[in-house]
Amino acid sequence: MKKVCIAAVAGVLSISLFAGSETPFPASWKTFTKVNTPLMKAGGALPGCDADVSSLPKVYQETVATYCAVKEGGPGAVEILVSPSALETYKARDGKFQDGDTMILHLKELQVLFVTSYKGQKPLYGVYDASGKDVASAEGSGLHPNDCRTCHTGYEAFGVNGQMGSFQ
Ligand code: HEC
Repeated sequence: MKKVCIAAVAGVLSISLFAGSETPFPASWKTFTKVNTPLMKAGGALPGCDADVSSLPKVYQETVATYCAVKEGGPGAVEILVSPSALETYKARDGKFQDGDTMILHLKELQVLFVTSYKGQKPLYGVYDASGKDVASAEGSGLHPNDCRTCHTGYEAFGVNGQMGSFQ
């Protein structure tokens, strides 16, 4: 019991001090369903960092800029994975996600997971490596939950309650 309390306190402290991921590591992510999105239709990779993206919608220009900050030259191949519970809502794009519903943008070459998970029907964000290490970083780095939120809820034409990728 004592150990549990200490762990809980340490958990709260680490959230407030280090401002890590807001959502837990989705341990069963390898069983999630791969979905098709505008990105996948474009070849399964984000445009390269030196590509001319000026004709794309601003949200995509900013996305390329953000993901290029993760790795010089761009993150390379990506895939989007959706937990079984979230699949219908993902496809319906009505934003009615339930607690625990999870979506992942898997940066395959980097072995990094961008995670969106729902609690109280609101999106929460996290960044993990494939083994579950929390690699969220400082605000403004592009790897902080608030950075995710700014874009994911800031573009109403592209996002529904934290789900992006509605650009066709
Ligand atoms: C500047 C904008 C921007 C930022 C910042 C951003 N994303 Fe995204 N994200 C997008 C766009 C656009 C897509 C849709 C790509 C597609 O399918 O075409 C997307 C897709 C996703 C998906 C796949 C599910 C979905 O919503 O379509 C997840 C999960 C995700 N992002 C999580 C994150 C996390 C976690 C962060 C922060 C570490 C983050 N994103 C930062 C723009 C952004």
